[in-house]
Amino acid sequence: MDDPAQALKRQVGAEAARLVEDGMVVGLGTGSTAECVIDSLGERVREGLRFVGIPTSKRSEAQARALGIAIAGFADHAEIDLTIDGADEIERGTLNLVKGLGGALLREKIVAASSKRMVVVADHSKLVDRLGTHAPVPVEVSSFGWESVARQLGLLGARPTPRRDRGGTLFVTDGGNMILDCAFAPLDDPADTEAAIRAIVGVLECGLFINRAVLALVASADGVQRLERE
Ligand code: A5P
Repeated sequence: MDDPAQALKRQVGAEAARLVEDGMVVGLGTGSTAECVIDSLGERVREGLRFVGIPTSKRSEAQARALGIAIAGFADHAEIDLTIDGADEIERGTLNLVKGLGGALLREKIVAASSKRMVVVADHSKLVDRLGTHAPVPVEVSSFGWESVARQLGLLGARPTPRRDRGGTLFVTDGGNMILDCAFAPLDDPADTEAAIRAIVGVLECGLFINRAVLALVASADGVQRLERE
């Protein structure tokens, strides 16, 4: 049986999967909540739904393919109708996000940037008043010269830590890059911080997602709450 946290993810995953309609191009997120969305989409495909998915990671692609979901890419589709993805933090009101603790932030942001609509799925523990409260901001960087990039991130007020896997070796993203997890004090102006991080040469993408999500589906013991961007 599911533990309570997993049950919430399944609940919000099923609700989000209902937003997908026949013929859509759908961005498939990454992480444990997005995994539940993909599971529910697999069920809907078995019931006859037809859509194509553009995955944000190799992991999500493998899961979707195994469930019979048709996979597409940007060579065939200039625009994505709907992307459903998880988040590490969701700012109340703005729905600005921290993403990337699952390591897929570069692909996630490429997919989000090409989407007409991005819906974020999470449990209530992810809601914060200011981004940076609990989660570090993951930053994907070139493995060449990462120490120099880390120093410059430090000048912005971050404490960057290179991400490692369980065995202690440096984590490598699907694109062959590194991630620096940057602890900040809670951010007053995340758009400004995103711009400053992205301006550093060697940074490939930053895990702050500003003005991307328009709707959050947030699960708690009381059910799934729909939060529109204010
Ligand atoms: C993946 O890179 C991340 O952006 C995830 O979407 C994020 O870490 C949320 O993951 P969970 O749903 O597992 O908490």
